[in-house]
Amino acid sequence: MQPSFGSEEACAAYNYILSGGFLTEHKYTRQLESELAEFTGAKYCFMVSNGTLAISAALLAVGISKEDRVLVPTYTMIATANAVKLIGAVPVFADVDQRTNTLSVETIRSKINDVDAVIHVSLNNRCHDMNAIVETCKDAGKPIIEDAAQSLGSTWCGKALGTFADVGIFSFSSPKIISMGQGGCVVTDNDEIALRLRRIKDFGRDRPGTEEYSAFGLNFKFTDLQAVIGLEQLKKLPGRVRALSDMWDLYYKHLAKYMIPKADKGWIPWFIEIFVLNRDELAVQLRAAGIGVREVYPPVHIQKCYNESSLALPNATRVHQTGLWLPSWSSLSKNQIEAICSCVNLLM
Ligand SMILES: Cc1ncc(COP(=O)(O)O)c(C=O)c1O
Repeated sequence: MQPSFGSEEACAAYNYILSGGFLTEHKYTRQLESELAEFTGAKYCFMVSNGTLAISAALLAVGISKEDRVLVPTYTMIATANAVKLIGAVPVFADVDQRTNTLSVETIRSKINDVDAVIHVSLNNRCHDMNAIVETCKDAGKPIIEDAAQSLGSTWCGKALGTFADVGIFSFSSPKIISMGQGGCVVTDNDEIALRLRRIKDFGRDRPGTEEYSAFGLNFKFTDLQAVIGLEQLKKLPGRVRALSDMWDLYYKHLAKYMIPKADKGWIPWFIEIFVLNRDELAVQLRAAGIGVREVYPPVHIQKCYNESSLALPNATRVHQTGLWLPSWSSLSKNQIEAICSCVNLLM
């Protein structure tokens, strides 16, 4: 996915610099938070430095601390687990299910008594029954965080992904539907969690402008220079949602037998992926034909920094061995997509 910035973002950044702003977060960050809250339907939104720190901040805000155990899917971007590790808590890896490549309600139910919190990752914007997942955690008295880093603009049953759990996070790094280079946000409807988040991202400061700190916090702050770019990107979001939806429809028309069907009408892809048994060979041939593809994430638990290869999590292994991301930027033309599909079909 290529980030796309135009003259609107360029002018916004130029005008902001000339206006004498301090660059650090201030009124444009507040405006962006308020527009993101409105877009997602969340009561509160807090901009932070990136999506990884958004997860750490969310974990701290729901009371997770050193040595607490946090359930995470092993098929995710490694940031999900690293954000747990950063605060001294322990990621507990679980397998994903075969239909959505995400945590199922059954998996969460079977592990919930072994952990202190759950991170649900809506990878490529998919999920199971989010209401049942949230209910399972609530019944067990365990907080749930939605890592919706990839999911801005996607809904499940008409509600924005990222807004079902106690806290949700989004990322704005370069390959996301809207980007500010780096950046992330945390959303919640919970007043107490919101108060904690406000403090956590500002060194634990009790109130802006004071030097009193009753809680631990760090500097997770954003910058107004990025916020002015974000405000322009946000205006383009509805158009990008439509473009991604149309792009997926066209890919699906030609490659349906290798793709997961759309499960909800509010779903849009983050990346277009196909699942094929000869993935490695196909990737080599597509690259030779000048088509940029990428193997999907490997399971996190087998990475050397976690070294839990003895865990049997076969679905994530299968996803990793068969999954391939195809070119997915929203500005791809119909002809380009059709050429990519012809090439895939020819090589299969
Ligand atoms: C699922 C998931 N979680 C977390 C992150 C981390 O976000 P960031 O790169 O903004 O730190 C990403 C980034 O792509 C992601 O895809």
